[in-house]
Amino acid sequence: MPRRYRPLPIPGSEITSENAYFKRRDLLRLTAAGGVTLAATSIAMAAQDLAALAAKPGGFDPGEELTPELDVTSYNNFYEFGTGKADPAAKAGDFKPRPWSVMIDGLVNKPGEVDLEDMLALELEERIYRMRCVEAWSMVIPWIGFPLSALIAKAEPLGSAKYVAFETVVRPEEMPGQRGAFQPLPWPYVEGLRLDEALHPLTILSVGLYGKVLPNQNGAPVRLVVPWKYGFKGIKSIVRITLTEEQPISTWNKLAPNEYGFYANVNPEVDHPRWSQANENRIGGGGFFGSNKRPTLPFNGYGEEVAALYDGMDLRTNF
Ligand code: MTE
Repeated sequence: MPRRYRPLPIPGSEITSENAYFKRRDLLRLTAAGGVTLAATSIAMAAQDLAALAAKPGGFDPGEELTPELDVTSYNNFYEFGTGKADPAAKAGDFKPRPWSVMIDGLVNKPGEVDLEDMLALELEERIYRMRCVEAWSMVIPWIGFPLSALIAKAEPLGSAKYVAFETVVRPEEMPGQRGAFQPLPWPYVEGLRLDEALHPLTILSVGLYGKVLPNQNGAPVRLVVPWKYGFKGIKSIVRITLTEEQPISTWNKLAPNEYGFYANVNPEVDHPRWSQANENRIGGGGFFGSNKRPTLPFNGYGEEVAALYDGMDLRTNF
């Protein structure tokens, strides 16, 4: 029997902007020459105003065919809107991703609230990443975002900070999966990274894809993208980022620790208890299911960049 969870409202203390430290001028200074600045962005900016979301190429392109945009935006996991793959696209229409801000707190010198507007004023890059879901399907997605390290650095992590915890918004009135008799997950959805993983240049916060503002079903207005890890690490619609000393709780790890590890590094040699992780089905290949099957790569093909983060660790135990 699935357990039923009651959503917790966000405490008022988390949505105050009293101690906001992200002075707009500071952020604008961060936009280095050659970067794209969305000057004079306004919180009221409509989605179509961002349709031309321009970004400089950010490297790391795997050189593989992009997954069609329609597949990227209609085949999603976002349980706040339902457990079916088509639910998020069908049921996220009432979700309001603006105005928005993200609280950064915990073991930092400068805790505070960051407006979405200021994140959009950071130097945005297009990052074409191969993505691998724990359910053994994959996509290649042209994300638009900025390195998570750019945001974390502004908060000035303390020496004692070892991990980063992330939290999704709780809005049952806008998210049908968070209300009603059956709720598949405890809310808020939470995730975590080790601090060095969070600061790695491959790790981005995404605000768009395919040159457009991030659709609700993909985690609007800001979500995590960590291409060497299984998709469930990519927490959506983030409202809080907390630096911690202890390893944070992550939703799927807490729910089924034998099936979903904290690390969740893509590893073809470590099977999920109920299925193999050796291969994957590339979505949008046009063929019958299975016809676009290909071998899964260690660290999803990003081993050269990230394997050193795990030197000396047994990745079968730390899966
Ligand atoms: N974030 C939240 N808040 N809720 C979710 O249910 N699902 C995760 C992840 N982030 C999820 C989430 C899972 S299982 C996957 S595979 C990815 O989002 C899917 O991202 P996509 O729909 O943009 O491909």
